Amino acid sequence: MTAPIPAFAFESSTTRVPDEERAALIADPGFGRVFTDHMATVRYSSEKGWHDLKIGARRPIQTDLATSVLHYAQEIFEGMKAYGRPGGGAALFRPQANARRFQESARRMAMPELPEEIFLESVRALVRTEIDWIPPGEDGALYLRPFMFASEVFLGVKPADEYLYAVIASSVGGYFKGGSPAISLWATREYTRAAPGGTGAAKCGGNYAASLIAQAEAIRNGCDQVVFLDAIERRWIEELGGMNIFFAFDDGSLQTPPLGGTILPGITRDSIIRLARDLGVTVREEPYSIEQWQADAQSGRLTETFACGTAAVVTAIGQVKTTEGSFAIGGQSVGPLTQRIRAALVDIQRGRAEDPYGWVETVV
Ligand code: PLP
Ligand code: COI
Repeated sequence: MTAPIPAFAFESSTTRVPDEERAALIADPGFGRVFTDHMATVRYSSEKGWHDLKIGARRPIQTDLATSVLHYAQEIFEGMKAYGRPGGGAALFRPQANARRFQESARRMAMPELPEEIFLESVRALVRTEIDWIPPGEDGALYLRPFMFASEVFLGVKPADEYLYAVIASSVGGYFKGGSPAISLWATREYTRAAPGGTGAAKCGGNYAASLIAQAEAIRNGCDQVVFLDAIERRWIEELGGMNIFFAFDDGSLQTPPLGGTILPGITRDSIIRLARDLGVTVREEPYSIEQWQADAQSGRLTETFACGTAAVVTAIGQVKTTEGSFAIGGQSVGPLTQRIRAALVDIQRGRAEDPYGWVETVV
């Protein structure tokens, strides 16, 4: 039996951005600065459960300064994109996977688990409302940010009894500006992102807050992103601040760090493993050390490295810096396997290739 589709009450914004202004805003939106007219909201309380499902005008909310999330960071989020279809309309990519990861993040953060159908319908309803905000161009998409936070006004340290779940939407282009074909990474020795038993596999705001000092260090050292090593031996590569990582070798194989509780189980990562194997590429989910990475890059055994995620899509990595020096990867450009994987993924997401996996859900 399929679950009934939850009904979201709809109230149109009375302050919609005029068409011409919207067209100018989405012509070259960058990442995460252009927001649409509406948002989805759902409230939760221990007494009433999930209630008050709405699509309404995107507007600021009033918050008491004793609201629990502002003190103890009980907050989780998701990141996903709606893509324009070649003949019009829009589609989501593996939205059920985001819904399930949102539930897993909630469990880890002692929050109530949003039913999958409410998550899915909140996103679908918002995309249907905001389809005109999908930017043109090869990198253009409507980035969706479902999130939930403890909204109870209470300073005791305990899981809250009240939460607000919301989805906002942002017209986006590529995540990285600058147009360089390959990004550079700072491998931090001082800071780690996640430890066994911690929250590394959850998509909670606190993980990102804790990563910012290392990201700032990366920028100071002229790098685009930080790459984190494991918290125990400080040598096994885990992931970047907001992306997973893949390594390509001269025998045509790929390798990516295994999931084990300290890295985010990326949906792009999972999709790439599947796609690559179906393209005949051997993919290993095995630990890889920074020393080996450097040695292999220098010997030529390692030919390419790329980052992947919803925001980053598939982005080549050209250089790695540490406190002890730096090393270059391949030709510091987009290598052939990176290119092939990227094209295979993006063509499915954007409806240009067949989708034998049932990953794409047309929404409008
Ligand atoms: N790792 C981290 C820390 C992230 O923030 C993200 C982005 O969501 C990813 C990996 C990639 O995950 P996904 O492919 O599901 O977007
Ligand atoms: C995403 O890719 O959706 C993320 O959450 C990562 C962040 C760099 C925006």
